[in-house]
Amino acid sequence: MHGPIDGTRRRALGALGAAALAPMLPVFAPAARAQPLPDRYTLRAAPARLSMLGATNPQTDLWVYNGRVPGPVLRVRQGERLRVDVVNDLPEATTVHWHGLRLPNAMDGVPHLTQPPIAAGGGRFTYEFACPDAGTFWYHPHLRGNVQVEMGLAGALIVEEPERLAVDRDVLWVLDDWRMQGDGQVSQDFGSMRDFMHDGRIGNTVTINGTLPDAFAVEAGERIRLRLLNVANARIFALRFEGHAPTVIAQDGMPCEPHATPGGRIVLGPGMRADVILDATGKPGERHRVIDDFFARQAYEVVTIAYDPRKRARARVAGPVPRLAANPVPEPDPGTAERHRIVFSGGMMGMMGGGGRGMMGGMPGMGAGTTGVWAINGHSSTETDHSHAPLLTLARGRSHVLELVNDTAWWHPIHLHGHSFRIVTRNGARDPRQPLVDTSLLPPRERAEIAFVADNPGDWMFHCHVLEHQASGMMATIRVA
Ligand code: C2O
Ligand code: CU
Repeated sequence: MHGPIDGTRRRALGALGAAALAPMLPVFAPAARAQPLPDRYTLRAAPARLSMLGATNPQTDLWVYNGRVPGPVLRVRQGERLRVDVVNDLPEATTVHWHGLRLPNAMDGVPHLTQPPIAAGGGRFTYEFACPDAGTFWYHPHLRGNVQVEMGLAGALIVEEPERLAVDRDVLWVLDDWRMQGDGQVSQDFGSMRDFMHDGRIGNTVTINGTLPDAFAVEAGERIRLRLLNVANARIFALRFEGHAPTVIAQDGMPCEPHATPGGRIVLGPGMRADVILDATGKPGERHRVIDDFFARQAYEVVTIAYDPRKRARARVAGPVPRLAANPVPEPDPGTAERHRIVFSGGMMGMMGGGGRGMMGGMPGMGAGTTGVWAINGHSSTETDHSHAPLLTLARGRSHVLELVNDTAWWHPIHLHGHSFRIVTRNGARDPRQPLVDTSLLPPRERAEIAFVADNPGDWMFHCHVLEHQASGMMATIRVA
């Protein structure tokens, strides 16, 4: 591959198992400024056959950006403009959505709402926008996402802080979950009514950065900024770093008060991110497991943290966890906020009386989704419904509180485009940390209140990021005008 992408690839961080060894730093000196970043990227979406499952397994036919899975890490400095020329060499139309970015509506990548689909067979579209917030974001198609994201179209977008954080290494883990067949191919059972009605397309194969993870090599005493990004269609990860105590410094890209999580578990629904400081407090030669126990009875080891038996970065990890400067997100004023109630209903064990309109049939075999399985305030809509009448119209420039009510038996990561919001209460109790996020993971039958300033004009998608739920009715538009 030639062109601007080469610059990114050299800087790609965190390849698993790669001997990316930290320098022997006596203190956590901020890394020197990297080379200039490209001012323009190209993303070419196309089919590719890749050895995702390692040399001993068959190759996998995927749909990917720039020939690899996940797509290239795009990097831009905070406040600067990102320009991305997208070329669609897929057999079907696509778009690219910039998840978590507060960008102009026309660049949001939602088909029929903010742009026409990018046609198959060489269609092009250029996205160009400024990036006001530093942090860990990502990009993915917003057309038939349940198929296109599952087939491999996803990548990270890192907006760099003006000052590099004082860590030894900046590592990205793109976590994905696939439903693989024994022949090494992605199962093509898209549009299964079972997946739509339950917890989405849970797979059987978890990858980190597009490979089956084995060992994550560290040196004793290292301080690592680990950027965790869940691009799975449906799997919720709850990561426990045995023998370690990660500290969360950002959620969904937005800096937060550094904090430990209950039981050290980092819970990430689809679409969500966490930046953590992982201090390598173990000894040379030690091995520790990273466990995903979101489904307690199906807990499994995601990867092993493998300490170099000889090298040490320093005698011990020292000093307070570094903290990130806040992003320029306007603070909502709960006192003057307008209030809105949003009820999510439907799914298995909620089809009757849950507000859904009942089964509407659809064409499950087509994988395109179907309306009627899930509903938001009684309306079930999908991307094939191009009317996009807004669920709510919010007065621009004002604070708003949305009360999200999960009247279903399932978990839903509820995502709003174009804005970040604070989670102010959960089940009526004030959230002590009031995290600033773009996705709120709602447990079954629970409620949350989110607050934000509706400062970004346009029609914005508001949907569940379990892509099978989105494809079967759990999506809506919120207008800021
Ligand atoms: Cu990750 Cu509507 O998006
Ligand atoms: Cu959902």
